[in-house]
Amino acid sequence: MSSAFTTETVLSVDHYTDRLFKFRITRPQTFRFRSGEFVMIGMAGEKKPLVRAYSVASPAWDEELEFFSIKVEDGPLTSKLQKIVPGDEVVLGKKPTGTLVLDALTPAKRLYMFSTGTGFAPFASLVREPETYEKFDEVIVTHTCRLGAELEYSSEVVGALPDDPLVGEDAPQKLRYVSSCTREDHPVQGRITQLIESGDLFERLGAPKLNPETDRVMICGSQAMIADTKALVEQHGLTEGSNAKPAEFVVEKAFVG
Ligand code: A2P
Repeated sequence: MSSAFTTETVLSVDHYTDRLFKFRITRPQTFRFRSGEFVMIGMAGEKKPLVRAYSVASPAWDEELEFFSIKVEDGPLTSKLQKIVPGDEVVLGKKPTGTLVLDALTPAKRLYMFSTGTGFAPFASLVREPETYEKFDEVIVTHTCRLGAELEYSSEVVGALPDDPLVGEDAPQKLRYVSSCTREDHPVQGRITQLIESGDLFERLGAPKLNPETDRVMICGSQAMIADTKALVEQHGLTEGSNAKPAEFVVEKAFVG
């Protein structure tokens, strides 16, 4: 076993659809990360571990680590990972990193987190992070999937916030969750890009259109979703930030295979 990894134990596994599942694992005491970061995770292989980058879906203060994963039938890792059960072992990288962190954004009034598919994972961490509500007056998290059943994880995470020990007071007052579907009936329909372009999102929220003076944005989804959403956000005048140079929006590609 390479020293870049620790071996952890699976604590729980929940399957949402034939494409999506969540799992929780033990967290080594030495493992430090910032809410929104990703880490390499996977399974021990014959020669070297088989790992991929996954956003940590639990907040930085949680004693366990949570992940939200896609299942790809012929995916080298997820074809195996989807079969894990409590008590199994997984390997965890020692060096979390990433740009979907509060530190990469300059202060403002409102934070938008736009996600599709497993791109909700880093936001599952950030909506449970007290600092999110210390830094922003309003927090809007959106999740768009093809089908309604694929929204179950995000609605479960958001639905549990009022009972959360750390954000149970702030989140219900400051957070708004907008879910939409693109291939099934749902109260809100359409891609996030369509909802931004048409202004439908802002009408629903009773908020003005994106403005670099007041708004910050985090984007996580497929390569195409990021490219299209980023272009729209830039059209509204926001500039991309990083850990080294905080600014008005940040992006990260969701784990895909
Ligand atoms: P659509 O059903 O119109 O393709 P996937 O499961 O393929 O990752 O897609 C997750 C969600 O992201 C779907 O609702 C999908 O809409 C949407 N999506 C796919 N491509 C883009 C894009 N370029 N911009 C915005 N949303 C997208």
